[in-house]
Amino acid sequence: MNISSGCTITIQKAEPQHLDELHNLELDSFDGDRISRRNYRRLLRVPSACCLVALENNQLIGSLVLLFRRNSPKARIYSLAVASSARGKGIGKKLIHHAETEAAQRGCHSLTLEVRCDNLAAITLYTRMNYTKTADLIAYYEDGANGLRFTKEIIDLS
Ligand SMILES: CC(C)(COP(=O)(O)OP(=O)(O)OC[C@H]1O[C@@H](n2cnc3c(N)ncnc32)[C@H](O)[C@@H]1OP(=O)(O)O)[C@@H](O)C(=O)NCCC(=O)NCCS
Repeated sequence: MNISSGCTITIQKAEPQHLDELHNLELDSFDGDRISRRNYRRLLRVPSACCLVALENNQLIGSLVLLFRRNSPKARIYSLAVASSARGKGIGKKLIHHAETEAAQRGCHSLTLEVRCDNLAAITLYTRMNYTKTADLIAYYEDGANGLRFTKEIIDLS
């Protein structure tokens, strides 16, 4: 998959050479509960994961990790991050849209994700994209913060 969306921003599946940039974006974007470099290396090769990247002039400015389980119609957005310098331009929205298309193409009927209760930007983004809160997750994060689970039923968007 290599989908051009907008003037210079491309959303595509991550490749092994993106490992360092993926890891750096993770370090810049999250204070805890991060995906380690080792875990990213594994996610890049296992069929149960789909790593999407947003590239601008070949530079990685966004990422989304989608997880699948064998024989399950539910996919999970495991991570989403946009470089701080590139936020507010619709890249998060584009990554989610592509993840929904990918999940639908792999036969999934719904997407779930977890988000910290205090992450207003992400909660607003998910709500705007018609995700609905389906669970409260008490002390879900490493630092004891509460989380929310959001879910969206998807149809084949391809
Ligand atoms: C959350 C995140 C991925 C959003 O990415 P983004 O590319 O800036 O988001 P978009 O530009 O696509 O914004 C889409 C919508 O989200 C909402 N939104 C985005 N940033 C927001 C903010 N800071 N405050 C309130 N709403 C916000 C808006 O409704 C926006 O739509 P609009 O501009 O038409 O009003 C980004 O802020 C990020 O990487 N944060 C750090 C990592 C993180 O928290 N990831 C999510 C973990 S669950």
